[in-house]
Amino acid sequence: MSSKTPWSKQHKKITRGAPLSFSNSFAQPLTMRELVELTEARGDHALLDEFHLHALDYTPTGGSLDLRTTIAGFYGEQISADNILVFAGGQVALQTCACALLTRADHAIVFTPGYQSVQQAPVFADAEVTSIRLKAEHGWQIQIAEVKAAIRSNTRYLVINEPSNPAGSLMRPALQQQLVALAERHSLHIMSDEVYRHLEHDPRTRLPAMADIYARGISLCTMSKPWGACGVTIGWLALQDLKLKQQCIDVLYFGSACPARASELQSMMTLRASDAILSKNLAIIDRNMQLLDVFFERYAHFFQWVRPTAGAVAFVKFSGPMSAAELAIQLASAGISIKPAYVFTDPNDTNAVSAYRDYFRIGFGEACIPNVLAALQDFVEQHQQKWRA
Ligand SMILES: Cc1ncc(COP(=O)(O)O)c(C=O)c1O
Repeated sequence: MSSKTPWSKQHKKITRGAPLSFSNSFAQPLTMRELVELTEARGDHALLDEFHLHALDYTPTGGSLDLRTTIAGFYGEQISADNILVFAGGQVALQTCACALLTRADHAIVFTPGYQSVQQAPVFADAEVTSIRLKAEHGWQIQIAEVKAAIRSNTRYLVINEPSNPAGSLMRPALQQQLVALAERHSLHIMSDEVYRHLEHDPRTRLPAMADIYARGISLCTMSKPWGACGVTIGWLALQDLKLKQQCIDVLYFGSACPARASELQSMMTLRASDAILSKNLAIIDRNMQLLDVFFERYAHFFQWVRPTAGAVAFVKFSGPMSAAELAIQLASAGISIKPAYVFTDPNDTNAVSAYRDYFRIGFGEACIPNVLAALQDFVEQHQQKWRA
């Protein structure tokens, strides 16, 4: 398979038309009407007027000042509007930054399993890449000794994803500090994909944003996950390194240079209502987690998970008599979609493929999950005798 094939292509083919998604990665999206109601309730009429009256014009490359100022409010004092770059989605930000920073003479370290762009943006930027395998027995936590061992004289980029997709795990602050100290010693940039930040199940476990604590740290965030606003297609980088910011703008010049103004305004409406939206979404996640706890306890013989502590996804091991990929095909014909591990691992890395063959990712951020889980339970009840035989 070519290194540029989307790993989710096969999953999409199998699950096309399956009405029950147990695999989406976002929190519950609002409707535009709900977003307008929240904006009106706050008395933010100027923003609504701006939405209705704005010109269908180009915006500045890297995003308009008002949105960048709103975003900067989510970070500490190191980060102002000047340290924010807005993109047409988080994925574009990942690609742009890797292309801005890396050349074929450089080396990057990534972790697997993970979102394809998180792992492969440095590959597409032509860098050499070392992929370190995360393990369930370590609670999907990065092992600092493995990172130390992977660093070479030409290593420039360390790409982490905390809270993690697909595992829903979150590193301890002490590990984050160790990684920063290691990166500092070797002058590495850390790309910290924080798209699930703000969805910690216990908000006290939230890590500092990488951009706040490290001069070469880059925090990636998107409207898609905690706020469930994937259709707005806005993501951003927060970074202290203004030279790298300019290099990213130079790359963006040839890409999706400026975000849509309508998307910027929808983002501002959403972010200004952030507390209300996040507490609604965390309540949905909390309710779904309780149902998942019951399900995984009841069917512990077939399914094991490292219980997620953040975000809206988890990586589950299937102990039945077939691979997770085969289970996904059977579930799709029963109308339920899950994401097998092949969506999160490089198909050319045959060791990783076989290490994770029993795993699949679930997503539980949406309000429909109780129905999906009921259908899954029916499916398991119908098949468990055969699976045990
Ligand atoms: C870990 C991770 N990073 C980045 C992205 C990209 O987000 P966006 O939807 O803003 O392109 C995703 C989307 O699924 C993701 O899961």
